[in-house]
Amino acid sequence: MDLGLRGQVAVVVGGANGIGKAIAHSFAAEGAKVAVVDRSPDVAAVAAELGPDSLPVVVDVTDYPALQAAAARIESELGPVAHVVVTVGIDSGKGGFPFWNLEPSDWTRVYTVNVQGVVNTAHAFYAPMIERRTGTFLFFSSVAGLTGSQTDPPYSASKAAIVNFTQCAAKDFAPYNIRANAIAPGMVHTPLQQKVYALATAGMPENERPTYEEWCDTKIKRLAPLGRMVDPEEIGAYAAYLASQHARNVTGQVLSVDGGWVMHW
Ligand SMILES: NC(=O)c1ccc[n+]([C@@H]2O[C@H](COP(=O)([O-])OP(=O)(O)OC[C@H]3O[C@@H](n4cnc5c(N)ncnc54)[C@H](O)[C@@H]3O)[C@@H](O)[C@H]2O)c1
Repeated sequence: MDLGLRGQVAVVVGGANGIGKAIAHSFAAEGAKVAVVDRSPDVAAVAAELGPDSLPVVVDVTDYPALQAAAARIESELGPVAHVVVTVGIDSGKGGFPFWNLEPSDWTRVYTVNVQGVVNTAHAFYAPMIERRTGTFLFFSSVAGLTGSQTDPPYSASKAAIVNFTQCAAKDFAPYNIRANAIAPGMVHTPLQQKVYALATAGMPENERPTYEEWCDTKIKRLAPLGRMVDPEEIGAYAAYLASQHARNVTGQVLSVDGGWVMHW
């Protein structure tokens, strides 16, 4: 299916790794020009993989003035931005439940990156898109934000906030022909998932500790009816589809890509 994204400019914030990197590849495969944005210098390697129609930009989403400068640079070097995807997300680095195992101060960084960082990005990019009356935004929630997951309470709450912000933005943008949606993944093979594994198994004796693959397999079979992990490339395909005109009547939605986990909960 031709998604009609050829020549359009897509910005993938969080594009250096995991889901963001797969989405950058997915847009590039459709012929889009891709700005790969992340705080990690690995953006250079990803942009090199995508080819000459891409632009690596190192920026931290908590730095709003730097994001504004990045948006201006992308418009000037790649052209009018049509699609903005924000995959940036961090965990607290601590096991959760009960929530009082964490300190209130453990919430601050997670919220600053996962919520304020997304809002900063939307602010940095929306104005010229409103003027042009076209474009899409895609944000990232999580099954954790839809189920009150206890694994990492600040992470779960931040991902619930993304659902609400997506709906709010979709209503605000609709009169300008701009759509905003979110994807809520289940368990995806990415560096973030490796961190969750490391945290979950840290206290286990060496001889009882499952491998990453064993841990994933046991957990996903217990939680999701389809019983299989998600590959980042699957999310990349949904992201490109949601940006395309095939999804022109889809806005304010949260697409769960989780093997049925959320309904099973
Ligand atoms: N992997 C999963 O199983 C899973 C499940 C549910 C939801 N999600 C969500 O999907 C999104 C992508 O997850 P992922 O697994 O690809 O994560 P990841 O850790 O593999 O990649 C996240 C990227 O964000 C970047 N980043 C982090 N903080 C940043 C900051 N302050 N400024 C700029 N860039 C920053 C990192 O450098 C990294 O490249 C996240 O929002 C995550 O919460 C992932």
